[in-house]
Amino acid sequence: MKLDVVTLFPEAFDWFRAQRHVANVLAAGSTLTAINPRDYTPLSGGQVDDAPFGGGAGMVLRVDVIDAALRGHYGRDPVELRGERRVVLLTPSGCLLDDALATELAGEPALTLLSGRYEGFDERIAEHFASDLVSIGRYVLAGGELPAMVLADAVLRKLPGALGHEESVVEESYSVALGGLPEYPQYTRPAEYRGWTVPEVLLGGHHAEIRRWRLEQARLRGGG
Ligand code: ADE
Repeated sequence: MKLDVVTLFPEAFDWFRAQRHVANVLAAGSTLTAINPRDYTPLSGGQVDDAPFGGGAGMVLRVDVIDAALRGHYGRDPVELRGERRVVLLTPSGCLLDDALATELAGEPALTLLSGRYEGFDERIAEHFASDLVSIGRYVLAGGELPAMVLADAVLRKLPGALGHEESVVEESYSVALGGLPEYPQYTRPAEYRGWTVPEVLLGGHHAEIRRWRLEQARLRGGG
């Protein structure tokens, strides 16, 4: 996957790039590229934002600057770009990220994430350049870098070779394999610690029984 992130803080992604599952997919041929609007702004002094029309606190990312950044990087009109690849704008008012959306995005060959700082984006960026508006939860963070990393993490870990065991992304919380339920409880050695024991069924090696128990536990956790 070719994953690009439009961000005023490209260095924020250095730590993310070094995480094992991300490093694994990058080594396997995927790319993670930061696009800094400051490198493309037509305004003097590296200006990228402005005061909101109508007044109010904070600064708003300018539509002409994001247009220039996308056009400069991709060599085409961003209005056309969003018809060719998913351009996901991270915003608290977007649709909530869940496992189904992460799986859908993991199937894309290329993805662009728009992460903003300050008070947000000029609405015309969302209207004309983005294909999707996504929120990572009903709370507001100071910027879009962490939300972009959350989305990128949820997506990249689903790519082949990201994790050690391929099956670990198949049967995990909220996956199709678990019927959208949270994951069942896991235990490891010691089988008894301070009198706290591991459920007997897991120690018996009876796979069908273990499977039944796990599904039941997932159902109980899901409130079903
Ligand atoms: N930017 C700031 N807060 C956010 C959130 N909760 N989700 C997505 N983008 C954001």
